Amino acid sequence: MSSCKSLAFAIHVLFVLGTCLLASEANFFPPPCPSAPPPPSINTATYYLQAVIANGTNNAVANVFPVAGVQGRQFTLQEFGTIFVVDANITTTPSPTSTLVGQAFGTLVAVSLDGTGYSVQVSLTNVFTSGPLAGSTLVVLGVSNGAQQQRPVPIVGGTGALTYATGYVVYQTISQQGPNLIIEVTAYYKTL
Ligand SMILES: *[C@@H]1O[C@H](CO)[C@@H](O)[C@H](O)[C@H]1NC(C)=O
Ligand SMILES: *[C@@H]1O[C@H](CO)[C@@H](O)[C@H](O)[C@H]1NC(C)=O
Repeated sequence: MSSCKSLAFAIHVLFVLGTCLLASEANFFPPPCPSAPPPPSINTATYYLQAVIANGTNNAVANVFPVAGVQGRQFTLQEFGTIFVVDANITTTPSPTSTLVGQAFGTLVAVSLDGTGYSVQVSLTNVFTSGPLAGSTLVVLGVSNGAQQQRPVPIVGGTGALTYATGYVVYQTISQQGPNLIIEVTAYYKTL
């Protein structure tokens, strides 16, 4: 805040407080004192991403495909510069055959130059098509450090029931069998 704005703000606060004090002393009417709005409550939602990383022989079932990378290097999540495009099922339980509630669309980019951090830039829009969040989207954007079991990534927005959503998700890989990953996602967010 500029010093001019801070001064204007301070004067405004003094004025409002003064008015409240006078009004309550006069016991004239209940003072219209500004009360801080209660903090918006934090919502939680848990869902599962069913990711199948393309490995050259599973293209018919894969939903996470490397599409570009550094020339001469392998296109893997550990190899700096590799870009993956994602269209993964979102399900209600860890079972891949449990109720499908939407898709996670977007990209993953391996961003750890030395390859030891397993850091991945996540840019995913979760589009919910059934269940309690049907008709809403939730946008997750940030860097996920694959070396951590629990990986927080910011929620930067949403639409529908999730309009103005802010908060974070925690990604946790709960199963990995070859190219098949099941990732538990717990979202903590507030809306307006
Ligand atoms: C690719 O995935 C398929 C299906 O899970 C698996 O059978 C195969 O062994 C994998 N190939 C490599 C090179 O990892
Ligand atoms: C994603 O959902 C579709 C529709 O239910 C299903 O056919 C497909 O096998 C699922 N993919 C994965 C990887 O679970």
